[in-house]
Amino acid sequence: MEKKVFIADLIAKYRAKRGGLIPLLQEVQERIGYLPRWALEEVAQGLDLSLAKVVGVATFYSFFRLKPKGRNIIRICTGTACHVRGAEKVMAAVKEELEIGPGETTADGEFSVETVACIGACGLAPLMTINDEVYGRLTREEVVRILRELEAKEEVKV
Ligand code: FES
Repeated sequence: MEKKVFIADLIAKYRAKRGGLIPLLQEVQERIGYLPRWALEEVAQGLDLSLAKVVGVATFYSFFRLKPKGRNIIRICTGTACHVRGAEKVMAAVKEELEIGPGETTADGEFSVETVACIGACGLAPLMTINDEVYGRLTREEVVRILRELEAKEEVKV
């Protein structure tokens, strides 16, 4: 199976390296987009580690993702300007509307939420991006309006 071959190659590359587990998992995630269970099993077997150890590392670091990303990626800026001007409110509004927080994906696979450091558009703080679009000077109401509009569009597509 092709996907197992690339993991076998990565295991061969990192097997002899001390501390190779994290970079190995990072490369697997870069290739697949997340760390599926089967990949963690392959890595554990290949490095002679327990699955619990590999899963433990994958769940400890927030940059690892155990589920695929949603079709729409919402990034909430938590840089200084956005923080001062209400990033927390943006976060709360997103959480209230989609019932997920940073690092999570909605059950229907439509949305993932992440945080991001300053994206260099501080004049628009507080802001979030959805895919490539920037939404600035957000209020709670504005966040809800944007998300509902997007949800409605996604429903039409289905
Ligand atoms: S702090 Fe959010 S864009 Fe700069």
